[in-house]
Amino acid sequence: MTYKVTKVVFPVAGLGTRFLPATKAVPKEMLPIVDKPLMQYAVEESIAAGIDTMIFITGRSKNSIMDHYDKAYEMEKELEARNKTEILNLLRSIIPPHIKCVFIRQPEALGLGHAVYCALPAVGNEPFAVILPDDLIYDGERGCMKQMVDLYAQTQSSILGVERVDPSETDKYGIVRTGESKGSYANIEHIVEKPKPDVAPSNLAVVGRYILNPGIFDKIKNTGRGAGGEIQLTDAIADLMKDEQVLAFEFEGKRYDCGAKLGFLVANVEYGLLHKELKHDFLAYLKDLSATL
Ligand code: UTP
Repeated sequence: MTYKVTKVVFPVAGLGTRFLPATKAVPKEMLPIVDKPLMQYAVEESIAAGIDTMIFITGRSKNSIMDHYDKAYEMEKELEARNKTEILNLLRSIIPPHIKCVFIRQPEALGLGHAVYCALPAVGNEPFAVILPDDLIYDGERGCMKQMVDLYAQTQSSILGVERVDPSETDKYGIVRTGESKGSYANIEHIVEKPKPDVAPSNLAVVGRYILNPGIFDKIKNTGRGAGGEIQLTDAIADLMKDEQVLAFEFEGKRYDCGAKLGFLVANVEYGLLHKELKHDFLAYLKDLSATL
């Protein structure tokens, strides 16, 4: 088995009910943060981590994701004819030539675990990354997945990206209890999906970043429906922990929960304030606005 992480799975077949009606025809992952869809941030983070194979697990109404990563012949021709070189280059840079894209359909939204299982034919017997694009993570330096790939190179253990959440919110996440801290990471002793705050083993929550060893596929295959009637990745990870060490990694960077309306708005504001063309005017606008509040 190779220990280099070269593949990433994007499970993007969820229904996105929290964003209806915006997500009736447009997948949540195509909602923009300033001027780029969430999906593109996730792909860029993967490329920055040295990953070259992008595996999209898509569902109904996900054609726009395929279109975004397809060559836009007509638009490129039109831009060429109008000498719009800068925009043309921007369009062409969405997916660099060395990157492969694989699209697999999850026929029914049976849960995150099931979506990851759908990637088996494209992943094979290799470690792989999983990114949930609605968890947008800003780390101006390396990117969250690069941090995790570096840790995987040292440990060869499956790794879950975690962060502390408000103890009242444990029932929105997979929650872990860890053993002795080794700096930014620790061995996971217990993991449970969406526990109520009074029974949660901690407030250390699993967010949308994983590196998994391929043994996870057998575990998912044997996982029945769990919380919410879905085939949960968390339950399969709990099973994997019986065979091998799984690590919780407290990454550097700020996470925006863009699957929720407030997190999505906050991300748009903060990315707007970082955007090279917009930041000055946008800051001036926000200052004016706050003076009127
Ligand atoms: P969420 O729990 O955020 O669900 O899924 P959702 O359907 O996307 O959004 P809401 O809660 O209804 O608003 C977590 C991740 O797992 C994927 C989703 O696309 C998201 O990236 N997922 C979930 C699948 O790919 N397939 C599934 O069957 C379920």
